[in-house]
Amino acid sequence: MSDNNIDSVLIEERQFPPSKEFADNAVIKKADFDALHKAAEDDYEGFWADQARDMLDWHTPFTEVLDDSNAPHFKWFADGKLNVTHNCIDRHLADKADKTAIIFEGENGDTRHISYQQLSNEVNQFANALKAKGIKSGDRVVIYMPMTPEAVIAMQGCARIGAIHSVVFGGFSADSLRDRINDAGAKMVITADGGTRGGKIVELKAATDKAMDGGCPSIESVIVFQRTKHDIPMQSGRDIWWHDAVDGQSTDCEPEWVGSEHPLFLLYTSGSTGQPKGIQHSSAGYLLGSILTNKWVFDLKDNDVFWCTADVGWITGHTYVAYGPLAAGGTIVIYEGAPTIPDAGRFWKIVETHKVSIFYTAPTAIRALMKQGDEFPNKYDLSSIRLLGTVGEPINPEAWIWYHEVIGKERCPIVDTWWQTETGANMIAPLPGVVAAKPGSCTLALPGIDADVVDEEGNSITQANKGGFLVIKKPFPSQLRTVWGDDQRYIDTYWPKFGGKYYLAGDSARKDADGYFWIMGRIDDVLNVSGHRLGTMEVESALVAHKGVAEAAVVGYPHEIKGEAIFAYVVLRGERPDSGIDEELTQELRAWVGEQIGAIAKPDQIRFSDNLPKTRSGKIMRRLLRNIARGEEITSDTSTLENEDILLQLQGKA
Ligand code: PRX
Repeated sequence: MSDNNIDSVLIEERQFPPSKEFADNAVIKKADFDALHKAAEDDYEGFWADQARDMLDWHTPFTEVLDDSNAPHFKWFADGKLNVTHNCIDRHLADKADKTAIIFEGENGDTRHISYQQLSNEVNQFANALKAKGIKSGDRVVIYMPMTPEAVIAMQGCARIGAIHSVVFGGFSADSLRDRINDAGAKMVITADGGTRGGKIVELKAATDKAMDGGCPSIESVIVFQRTKHDIPMQSGRDIWWHDAVDGQSTDCEPEWVGSEHPLFLLYTSGSTGQPKGIQHSSAGYLLGSILTNKWVFDLKDNDVFWCTADVGWITGHTYVAYGPLAAGGTIVIYEGAPTIPDAGRFWKIVETHKVSIFYTAPTAIRALMKQGDEFPNKYDLSSIRLLGTVGEPINPEAWIWYHEVIGKERCPIVDTWWQTETGANMIAPLPGVVAAKPGSCTLALPGIDADVVDEEGNSITQANKGGFLVIKKPFPSQLRTVWGDDQRYIDTYWPKFGGKYYLAGDSARKDADGYFWIMGRIDDVLNVSGHRLGTMEVESALVAHKGVAEAAVVGYPHEIKGEAIFAYVVLRGERPDSGIDEELTQELRAWVGEQIGAIAKPDQIRFSDNLPKTRSGKIMRRLLRNIARGEEITSDTSTLENEDILLQLQGKA
């Protein structure tokens, strides 16, 4: 872990408490907040059992709460049965059938409003179509879709019948898609002819076909939603149009009542090996975390319009688009396209048009839009916004203040939410009516979440601002259950230290004198590029798969917009280009990595060298590579290097 020197930490003194009006009207007020924390401290399991009974509709009520007999494979509410779509849709039909569930806006400006009744009809029809194609409870279905309501309908349709979905972000390549299909042993892919993003068509069906050509033996059928209506080939016997699949299907579909622990979905995320892991979530525990945090952290009320800009390909798009807000009976906005089409005012125009009241996005988007200038947000009426959120990486104070002043007009609390694909829902975040924000801090752990910062031995660090490992000390309902098909990897990754007692998040953090958490970065070889996780090994494996590349090492360096960008050091099979720079080859390798993984993984800079800095035992000294990528002085001892001279080459000095 990096040396977290207290002297090098910038202490943020500014505090932003909520306005009295916000505090008085919040879902969770100060007294509720204190009562929730006390309840969780007094009787942890009782607290979670009460929440699960209050927040979820059960078909068979549970009698068991936490089963830790096979830790760290925890079970929650295991003898209860429920259905997630019943909780997200059916239970609202009595009093909210006509309420808008989804407001959709395409990049080209087409809009649709879908009521809870319509959503129910479409989800049920689609669920029946899945059944007609032979999909059963427990089968895996991969969803590779543009950001349209159909992506949510596909997810909910799977959940209706107990099928386990695995959404693959539409920006991932055919190769990434194939790996995920095969790892999950999926029986079906749900995709579209294409999506529209940045004024271009994203060729989702073509990528799906390419993935299949590479070998996906478990796939029996492909459902294709018609979005762009451009010409695409359909393979007879395998491919079926969405509209044909649902044609004639009933709008009634009895939900599959699944056990609490039934897997709701897998979502692949990067770790410190070359192979992404399938994070497996449960049904009841996951849904509980989703609904609770939508109410507590996002203060979601009946008349709100909640726009979380995340794609359903990421966990944020699961918990704060496809499941949580619907479970809470809310109205969500789904926008298909890029934030800068036709110009950098698009997000703010959408806020004005649809009267968005809660807006949740990533620091990278905030920084990018900030850079475009205030005239874009200032052109639109943003008075509907009452709460702002951020997620994915630490937000720099400058971007925080801009968000607060220019978007929130100094009226709106900002919730900086720390969580992960693995935690399923927000873990450390302010309850906006209670906890004062500090720019750059995700503030305090939520009631029932026992987060802490500990040292190597697992002791709590009590000294203010001293860095350590971020851990969660007690199991919680929304946490991952395992890595799909690889229990050992689950144990090794998340429970390797502290006698396997604490969940190891993989982040370093510190707590300030008020007990506020400040995330300092990853402790593993995971990069955070524009709020998206990427393993350095994944990018390295992609690079060395190129015929011209012998060896590669990848590190992150700070980037103004992306937060972190990728610097790759490449040893070629042939001659090293003079000065270590070769524009043409750089572009070729960037395109190659884009094909192997997806555009987000393209290295920003590539330097070619004859070798990499290695110790005598052959270990690459990444610390030095990071220094060089960041333009820092190399102050550490390099005498253990086998090939000290290589440093000059890597620095572009030879
Ligand atoms: O390093 C933390 C960072 O993003 C990681 C989780 O990435 P992922 O699973 O892709 O989920 C992103 C969306 C939940 C964390 O380990 N991270 C996430 N939120 C924050 C953050 N870092 C600082 N502040 C945050 N609010």
